[in-house]
Amino acid sequence: MKKLWVFMAVVFFAGNAWANDIPEGMGVLPTAVPVPADNPMSAAKVELGKKLYFEPALSKSGHFSCNSCHNMATWGVDNQRFSIGHKWQRGGRNAPTVLNSAFWSKQFWDGRAPLLEDQAKGPPLNPVEMAIDSETAAVARLKDAGYASEFQAVFGKNGMSFDNMAKAIAAFERTLITPNAPFDLYVQGKGDISAAAKRGMKKVADIGCTSCHSGVLFTSNDFVAFKYGKDEGLKSVTGKAEDDHVFRVQSWRNVAMTAPYFHDGSAATLQEAVKTMAKVQLDTTLSNQDVNDIVAFLETLTGELPKVTLPQLPRPQGHALDWKE
Ligand code: HEC
Ligand code: HEC
Repeated sequence: MKKLWVFMAVVFFAGNAWANDIPEGMGVLPTAVPVPADNPMSAAKVELGKKLYFEPALSKSGHFSCNSCHNMATWGVDNQRFSIGHKWQRGGRNAPTVLNSAFWSKQFWDGRAPLLEDQAKGPPLNPVEMAIDSETAAVARLKDAGYASEFQAVFGKNGMSFDNMAKAIAAFERTLITPNAPFDLYVQGKGDISAAAKRGMKKVADIGCTSCHSGVLFTSNDFVAFKYGKDEGLKSVTGKAEDDHVFRVQSWRNVAMTAPYFHDGSAATLQEAVKTMAKVQLDTTLSNQDVNDIVAFLETLTGELPKVTLPQLPRPQGHALDWKE
């Protein structure tokens, strides 16, 4: 009995000492995402959502899909300052990644869409993105392409609707999680990260970056002021003075792969983004060594890209889909 206690004490202290080098709150990316009660997950719904995600029929030109701007092969982004949409127009905000977006408290830089379901109804009708004339027109496009039976199979007899399109896309997005980043493996004792990354990890905690970029997601999921640039953020939605330049704290998960940075894509490099954040949010000027260490740490937060096999989209056999524009 005595031996067992000694053994347990050693394990306890060893475990603790090892855990001590990881600043409080940091930890492994969860694998389970929150799912709203009115949109339960199913394999068939996820598969339909994946098709819709890749479906250019949801754009007026028949050219743009969600994947055009949030490319599954490039970490859910297009790496452009402003994405190209309908008629080669560019919007005024940078496209954030869809990876792990199921974890965010609200969608968009200003949080104007509470859920992924709400968000997914935006782009098809947005005139600078996919520019479809109306919800009815979007549903007609899907019918044309041959989606009726799949919607029925997933959502029941009258299941073909714009709302259900959004539900299916949201269900697919909830599968886009990026586990096993080098940092996650390190936390679990399954791998190591560089000395520079360890210094960066401590630095972000010591200087207070993690007061906002907190927890296992490296975001508090809150909306805070970022007094930088022209965009008024949440104020442009609510009109309230206190919401001026308020944006959601962005996660650091996969941030090394999603340049350029900030809502206006104005920081071309991660180094620049880190320096600006330190200056604007913490009134701190970082040394080059600190910047490089922090970037080395951020690079350990790149997880595994979800394995998304290209779906086969429903198409009528032997006749063209003649979408003008
Ligand atoms: C023309 C480019 C473009 C297309 C097409 C597009 N998006 Fe986006 N997406 C953006 C931009 C830009 C934003 C940020 C807008 C903002 O915050 O005001 C965004 C934001 C998002 C977000 C919020 C992520 C976050 O971190 O808050 C999600 C989720 C998303 N898009 C999913 C989709 C889905 C699903 C589709 C297809 C139905 C789609 N997008 C089509 C450019 C695009
Ligand atoms: C007061 C809260 C706060 C603090 C402190 C803070 N950040 Fe941020 N961070 C934000 C917000 C809000 C955004 C989103 C900015 C935007 O809308 O463009 C952000 C964005 C970023 C981005 C860009 C993410 C992207 O996808 O474009 C990086 C990188 C970043 N922060 C790193 C840091 C580092 C490193 C520190 C410490 C030196 C830090 N932040 C401190 C709130 C904060």
